[in-house]
Amino acid sequence: MADSTNTQRDAWGSRIGFVLAAAGSAVGLGNIWRFPYVAGESGGGMFVLIYLICVVFISVPYLFAELSLGRHKHRNPVGAIMAIKGRSAWMLIGFLCITAGLVILSYYGVIAGWAIGYVAKDVIAPGVPFGEFIATPALVIPLLALFLGLTLYVVTGGIQQGIERWAKLLMPLLLVLMLIIIIRSLTLEGASEGIAFYLMPDLSQISGAVVLTALGQAFFSLSLGMGAMITYGSYLNKQENIATSGGYVAVFDTSIAILAGFMIFPAVFALGMEPDAGPALVFEILPAVFAEMPMGAFIGVLFFLLLSIGALTSSISLLEVVVSYFIDEQKWSRMNSVLTIGAIAFVLAIPSALSQGAVGWLSDLSWLFGEGGLLGQNDFLGILDYFFGSLFLAIGAFFISIFVGWVWGAQEAVKEIQQGSNFTGWLVTVWVFMLRWVCPLFIFISLIYMIYEAL
Ligand code: PHE
Repeated sequence: MADSTNTQRDAWGSRIGFVLAAAGSAVGLGNIWRFPYVAGESGGGMFVLIYLICVVFISVPYLFAELSLGRHKHRNPVGAIMAIKGRSAWMLIGFLCITAGLVILSYYGVIAGWAIGYVAKDVIAPGVPFGEFIATPALVIPLLALFLGLTLYVVTGGIQQGIERWAKLLMPLLLVLMLIIIIRSLTLEGASEGIAFYLMPDLSQISGAVVLTALGQAFFSLSLGMGAMITYGSYLNKQENIATSGGYVAVFDTSIAILAGFMIFPAVFALGMEPDAGPALVFEILPAVFAEMPMGAFIGVLFFLLLSIGALTSSISLLEVVVSYFIDEQKWSRMNSVLTIGAIAFVLAIPSALSQGAVGWLSDLSWLFGEGGLLGQNDFLGILDYFFGSLFLAIGAFFISIFVGWVWGAQEAVKEIQQGSNFTGWLVTVWVFMLRWVCPLFIFISLIYMIYEAL
């Protein structure tokens, strides 16, 4: 069982390696695909402002809790909890993490597959509209397999030789691609209207729903609530500074989300399109935007390459959460774990892949969830995202913050963070207060809201 002397366990090779890998987990579809469309639907600037407040006051304090819990005994989410509370009901939270990791991986892989497909769209499906593209199994299933294959390949390499090595290569590439696209977008005539929409907070747009959407986004985007940061924290050594490294990860992730808006809104406005297209924003509106602008075809390829890279470094972390459990607790080899979990994720992903128009009853579950669906979603993929990408993340985050703040004890967590950092004084007081009261309270409110809205 858990002990602190498992010397053979993998570990990050360098600080920058950890920061890039964790930022890789955080930066993904959530930043580049979801953040802009949610901001576009929720009124632009005001949403962005509330999002920033949520990140600073709730997500970051909570992030430290996950990282310190993981590093404490260098264990996966189940093992980390067991190492503190033994075999108890708290283990269920760990299992919730593992399950969420597996399920999110499955449907995340479907959307990531579309992104890869769009890199080569002009070759594999020229002129095919988005709605038809995602309803064509002959396109989406092989793309899903390709994406999962890449994910498996990286994770079989382990922490240093796999995840860290690829993060060091892919994250800088992602930044460069992003900068090229932003420059193109900002230099279009009429770009300033998009910037105004994006940056000017409009007070009338504030509402409970907007606040809770922003909070949910702030959790999903930083990969919180399902043990990814517990797992990545478990590969940190005791000299590492959790506070500063965690801070870098949050800054990185938030900057990329904000920058994603700068790629998208100026271009959307410059070409006279609407910013509130929802999930179709990047797949439908953007290609239309690219088609009309100088160098558009090239920029389009770069954009979807960027989206695929972001998705890949995130899905790696989803897979690693599950794999680390089987390696630590079930003593499976890494190779066996990766292949088994990968195969299960692929099978699980098929109904999601077929739920975007290919198979009628999977695409419309209103016979099960009523006409309104769950938060407006009624397809299998959307329903899974509601349960695993929103509801279970909130449940996980709620119990993990209670566990670290009250059961393990905030003071123990502070001691863990203090190894490797000089985390003292008022910072500690504020952090403990946030962890014990503010995080659980706000997460709880958002949980109730999600359930209420879905009923
Ligand atoms: N943070 C990732 C994104 O923004 C998604 C993710 C969630 C990854 C949870 C891992 C764990 O796309």
